[in-house]
Amino acid sequence: MASLEVDLNKIEPGQTITVKWRGKPVFIKRRTEEDIEYARDVDLSSLRDPQTDEERTQKPEWLVLVGVCTHLGCVPLPNAGDFHGWFCPCHGSHYDASGRARKGPAPLNLEVPEYKFLTDETMLIG
Ligand code: FES
Repeated sequence: MASLEVDLNKIEPGQTITVKWRGKPVFIKRRTEEDIEYARDVDLSSLRDPQTDEERTQKPEWLVLVGVCTHLGCVPLPNAGDFHGWFCPCHGSHYDASGRARKGPAPLNLEVPEYKFLTDETMLIG
């Protein structure tokens, strides 16, 4: 299956890029300290799909998500919504700074694809 190499050098702190992988959008966000704190300071019992931020990331600075809403498959918008994350305009789902479903009809967190770091500045998705 096809893997995709991504150069992380040009992504600024706070910026999200979207790449195409297996026909789907994949979001790569370089998180700021504030994003990371926000993602980690969550009461797990308040989550509909409880996962810690540590389970969803390999390095706190980098968040990698399949950009497909778990409700009905629209592409959520970055840096939007009520939880420092994404907002899906189709039916109003909000995802947090870890890509977890927080409000609206989405039943599950945004999926984290398989990925690994080849170097500090290069990631392989898939
Ligand atoms: Fe995203 Fe319905 S497809 S909220």
